[in-house]
Formats: sequence, structure tokens, C-alpha cells
Amino acid sequence: MGNNIEGKVVVITGASSGLGEAAARELAQHGAKLVLGARRMDRLETLAKELSLGKDAAVQTDVTQCAQVQRLVDHAVHSHGRIDTIINNAGLMPQSLLERGKVQEWDRMIDVNIKGVLYGIAAALPYMKQQKSGHFINVSSVAGHKVGPGFAVYAATKHAVRALSEGLRQEVKPYNIRTTVISPGAVATELPNSISEPDIAEKVRRAYEIAIPAESFARAAAFAISQPDDVDVNEILFRPTRQEL
Ligand SMILES: NC(=O)c1ccc[n+]([C@@H]2O[C@H](COP(=O)([O-])OP(=O)(O)OC[C@H]3O[C@@H](n4cnc5c(N)ncnc54)[C@H](OP(=O)(O)O)[C@@H]3O)[C@@H](O)[C@H]2O)c1
Repeated sequence: MGNNIEGKVVVITGASSGLGEAAARELAQHGAKLVLGARRMDRLETLAKELSLGKDAAVQTDVTQCAQVQRLVDHAVHSHGRIDTIINNAGLMPQSLLERGKVQEWDRMIDVNIKGVLYGIAAALPYMKQQKSGHFINVSSVAGHKVGPGFAVYAATKHAVRALSEGLRQEVKPYNIRTTVISPGAVATELPNSISEPDIAEKVRRAYEIAIPAESFARAAAFAISQPDDVDVNEILFRPTRQEL
């Protein structure tokens, strides 16, 4: 892979596990300068140490708090002088049927999966606009393309991520900014742990028996970033080869 990654300043939200953590590992190998955000500071610091990122690379961030996302992005710019890519990845998936009325879980998904992405855009866009370069990678899902019983709200949040990303893509053309949506299928991470309904958790556990490793996402992110600056990879959708939905 041609390396248009080395030296790039990349901010990753939700870097304490799963896809975000795998992306950090992959991009570190390619020489990116990483700034990692999530709530679990112990996990972030362990990863930052393992990847020799320096002690300032981990920033405790709750993406539902706009000011904290701003602080994460500001920190990247103050530390490295610029921000080249933000991977708006933090998310959760407490699936359940609408008739069960898990309103607090709906609120939480909207706050993390949609507002968290918006806060990342709000924080990074002014810098990228001024730089006249930058790259947003927003994490959607196969559920951003498909809807089914049990994941209507999750799918709604992931459809929203795609809609926002397409609007962003069109708006930032004058500023030479790239916009990529990555929509994974079942990938083996801690994501199903957020499901509180035992019967649905069991159904998802079975569906995830075919899940593929998080490196699949990391390679997709690296592919998008590594393209020449005049190539804007807008959508990547991937699944386990055996996944039906
Ligand atoms: N795994 C899959 O099959 C799959 C498929 C399609 C899409 N996705 C999407 O991929 C993204 C990453 O999920 P994953 O699979 O890697 O799951 P994961 O292992 O559970 O990771 C989720 C990450 O999000 C972070 N997070 C959750 N709430 C947060 C908050 N309020 N503020 C900041 N960070 C928060 C978590 O960190 P802390 O808990 O430390 O804050 C963690 O690092 C999500 O957007 C998910 O919807 C995953």
C-alpha cells in the first residue's frame, strides 16, 4: 500500500477497544501521529504506551460532551500543529425491540452515535477548512444500509451517520477535505456487550459467531487515508464473507 499516512495527525474516538483500537495499531505501523480519545483512560494509556505514542496521546473523552470532543481535537492541533484525519468511531449498539420502550437506550444511541459524530465534525472542520485539507472518516454500519427487527434505533443512528457524511462531503468540496463512511458488518469487538436484553443478546451472540477480526476495519481505514490527496473514497461497506444480512 502506498503510504500517504506517515506523519499524518489522526484523531480516533472510541480508541479504547475494538475498531478504534485496531485502527490505532494499523495507523501507528504506517507512521501516523495519533491522538486517542475514549472514556476508559487506563485502556487508552496502555495502548498509547504499547504504540510508543508519547504520554500526551491519550485524552479522556466522552463524545456526548461537545466541549470534551473540542478539547480532544484542540489537543491534537496544539501537540502536532494540525489535524489531518478524524475517525468518528465511538458508538454503542444496545439492540432491542421498539415495543420494549428502552427510551434511555435510544437516547444514549442518539447521543453517542449521532451527536458524537456531529461534535467531531464541529471540532475538526474549522481547522481543516483553514488548512484547506483534511479527512473525516465516520463509522456507520451495514445497519446504515439495512433495517430489521430489534435494531431500528441503531439502524436509524447509522443511517444518520451516512446522511450527515454525504451532506458534509458536498459542503466541504471547496476546502479540499475528504469524507469517508465505513460500514462494517459483524466484527468481533465488545460492541454486543451494550445489549441489555438477554434474549436479544443471545441472538446477536449467535449472529456474531461468524464475526471477522477488527483488523478488517483498520485496513479499510488505512486504505482510505492512503489514497492520493485527489482521491476521495466516500463509502466502504464490508461484511464477513458468510454474513447474510
Ligand atoms: N463491531 C461491529 O460489528 C460493528 C459493525 C458496524 C459498525 N460498528 C461501529 O463501530 C464503532 C466502534 O465499535 P466497536 O465494534 O469497536 O465496539 P467496542 O469495542 O464496544 O468499542 C466502542 C468504543 O466506543 C467508545 N465509546 C462508547 N461510548 C463512548 C462515549 N460516550 N464517549 C467516548 N467513547 C465512547 C468505547 O470507549 P469507552 O467505553 O472507553 O468510552 C469504545 O472505545 C461503533 O460506532 C459501532 O457502531 C461496529
